[in-house]
Amino acid sequence: MNTNQWMRRAALATLIAGMGTAHGQVTNRTDTEFLNRDSIAFTRHNLTQRQPGAAPNSPNGSLMDPFRNNYGEVCVYCHTPHGANASVQLPLWNRTIKAGTTYQTYDQLGTSTITQSISRPGVNSLSCLSCHDGTTAVDSIINMPGSGGYSAAMQTTNDDGVINAFLATWGPGVGDTFEHMKLNESTGSGSCLSCHSPDGIAAAQNFTVFAIGTDLRNDHPVGITFPTTNPDFNVTNGTTPRGDAFFDLDGDNRMDKNEVRLYDTGDGPEVECASCHDPHGVASGGAGTNFNPTFLRVSNVGSGLCMTCHVK
Ligand code: HEC
Ligand code: HEC
Ligand code: HEC
Ligand code: HEC
Ligand code: HEC
Repeated sequence: MNTNQWMRRAALATLIAGMGTAHGQVTNRTDTEFLNRDSIAFTRHNLTQRQPGAAPNSPNGSLMDPFRNNYGEVCVYCHTPHGANASVQLPLWNRTIKAGTTYQTYDQLGTSTITQSISRPGVNSLSCLSCHDGTTAVDSIINMPGSGGYSAAMQTTNDDGVINAFLATWGPGVGDTFEHMKLNESTGSGSCLSCHSPDGIAAAQNFTVFAIGTDLRNDHPVGITFPTTNPDFNVTNGTTPRGDAFFDLDGDNRMDKNEVRLYDTGDGPEVECASCHDPHGVASGGAGTNFNPTFLRVSNVGSGLCMTCHVK
């Protein structure tokens, strides 16, 4: 980031901090302005940050504009109808994903009890990690609305020397932004946590825990095979033609969004991020009800999610 950008951010941050209640000590907010129901448009995964029906340009929407491109569409941060990333088995995927070798995995922790083999995180985890590992800007997509798509000339290198794909030609006045921030990064300055953390500003919610990083040793294992003959685990009762396995709650033989699933992308059915989470949100009690918190497929009240797989 150049000095000019720093000054603009510092000025904005001071302005916003003045809106908060902090007197010296910074205490971040934990509440949300999203309804968390009906559609992804009413969740934090709406990266336009403008909840439909909210007051014109809801305050957080305008605040975010200098820090990521506002494409004005909800789906485009992850999907594109044409020109999608066909190198990955994900629906019309509009982002790059990294090699599984980028990550430190749970087996490297070396617990004595683990029985299953861990391959690398599969695509149904790499999709999430394309934002949540904090190494790629959240607005870094392959096909921008109305654009001719991506060309190598659009790649840029950020202040950490990391390729920050596709955004070189975007700058103030062009892509509506002067900074393409990442959820987190250990060095450098282009992180959403510069406001959204206890070191940030009081008016912003604390997002520290959402920035998973590249070290997955402290996260539930992913890319791990699911045991089929182990009394410590429940037995799945649904399969897809591809070989994915799932807990079919309604017996319709279809992998519904509220059903925990194990993805088979070549190594047999495995646990991935999307085994437990649906990034679009899942109604807790039928249409129109609030989504399960944190995009979970099954509510974890009473450890319901854990007990879907584990017999404990
Ligand atoms: C300059 C400080 C600042 C930066 C940088 C910043 N934000 Fe924010 N953000 C805020 C503030 C302040 C709010 C609360 C606004 C309000 O309550 O109206 C907010 C609100 C949000 C919300 C809504 C939270 C909720 O649940 O209601 C999301 C999501 C969000 N920001 C995402 C991001 C992302 C993603 C980035 C990086 C691309 C980012 N922010 C960078 C200050 C910032
Ligand atoms: C934050 C990223 C993100 C956004 C935004 C998003 N999706 Fe998705 N979507 C995903 C991921 C990741 C998957 C694959 C889930 C998996 O691994 O099974 C997916 C899968 C899908 C699928 C396949 C069926 C399913 O539910 O898994 C459809 C259809 C879909 N998305 C439509 C949409 C539409 C329409 C929008 C906009 C209203 C949208 N998505 C917004 C991330 C996103
Ligand atoms: C396009 C970028 C992007 C992708 C892809 C993405 N997320 Fe997120 N996610 C965000 C942002 C931005 C937030 C808001 C909080 C923040 O800024 O850190 C968020 C928040 C969350 C939260 C907290 C929700 C809440 O209401 O408190 C969860 C859980 C989550 N994401 C899980 C996932 C999972 C699982 C996947 C993959 C299936 C995924 N995300 C894919 C950008 C993304
Ligand atoms: C075995 C199920 C499971 C898997 C696999 C899983 N999660 Fe979660 N995740 C959860 C549960 C349960 C919570 C809620 C934790 C809480 O509220 O304390 C959660 C919370 C989160 C949150 C919100 C922050 C927090 O710590 O509460 C994010 C972001 C998230 N998960 C992302 C991911 C990503 C990215 C992956 C893949 C690398 C992943 N999850 C894999 C079950 C899972
Ligand atoms: C989708 C199925 C699934 C769900 C849901 C699930 N797990 Fe797991 N979990 C597994 C598998 C498979 C393993 C690997 C077991 C092994 O290697 O013996 C595992 C491993 C673990 C381990 C590590 C065991 C070790 O020996 O190091 C713990 C702890 C754990 N899970 C806790 C939880 C908790 C807590 C939840 C709920 C938040 C949960 N799991 C939800 C499938 C699941």
